[in-house]
Amino acid sequence: MKKLYFGSNLKMYKNIRETTDYLIRLQKLTQDLEHEKITLFIIPSYTSLDRASGITDQNQIMLGAQNMCWEEVGQFTGEISPLMLQELGIKIVELGHSERRHIFGETNEIIGQKVKAALEHGFIALLCIGETGKEKQCGISDEILRIQLKTGLSKVCEEELDKLWIAYEPVWAIGVNGLPASSDYAQEKHHVIKNILQELFGEPGKAVPVLYGGSVNLENAGGLIQQPDIDGLFVGRSAWDAEKFNQLIRDATEAVNMEVS
Ligand code: PGA
Repeated sequence: MKKLYFGSNLKMYKNIRETTDYLIRLQKLTQDLEHEKITLFIIPSYTSLDRASGITDQNQIMLGAQNMCWEEVGQFTGEISPLMLQELGIKIVELGHSERRHIFGETNEIIGQKVKAALEHGFIALLCIGETGKEKQCGISDEILRIQLKTGLSKVCEEELDKLWIAYEPVWAIGVNGLPASSDYAQEKHHVIKNILQELFGEPGKAVPVLYGGSVNLENAGGLIQQPDIDGLFVGRSAWDAEKFNQLIRDATEAVNMEVS
């Protein structure tokens, strides 16, 4: 049975108190899950990370940051250094989310530098990729994924692969105006991604977990996670209520016929 991954990026939602309440509730609700088989993670705002790491058992729920600078120190106003994130004891750094790419103009090259820095500092690098609606319409989705992966991972070596996770998040599927990808479409693209990873790193590339994100909800989670090349779900809105996220995790896990407790 494949190992499953469920996580959420809280984006620019939830203040410190809301984040800690949420994490305490989610920990309680999910404590009976088999954590060797089910990896849970939450990516709160920077300002909540310190308190979040104080109250969270990261053997149960891993914590991550939503971005990171590629340099350790320097004249980088407004940026967060890998050393600062290490001080907080968090495990994951999310890089290249579509909002970083499309609202804040981050390029594949910059994201590649950040992925390398995250791995060098011992974090799990969660690289987000995905085509826009326009790119899909033009029939160049696979080419876009190839460019994002090849540039984003250009500095990564085989020994670092056990710390690499990929999230496939088609831009047209994300957020309030997003349309979730069908399970078949998501599977097709995950297959493309797995093939590119294998092309880049050989056999070990196959073991890199690839998560799907973009309007995942209680209705579509089971169908998505059942696909052979989908290793996990990266959930936004449907995860921001601890009860609902717990339900989604359990329904999805049941859908792949796994013992959860
Ligand atoms: P959504 O967000 O589930 O609210 O569409 C997904 C994401 O941005 O990762």
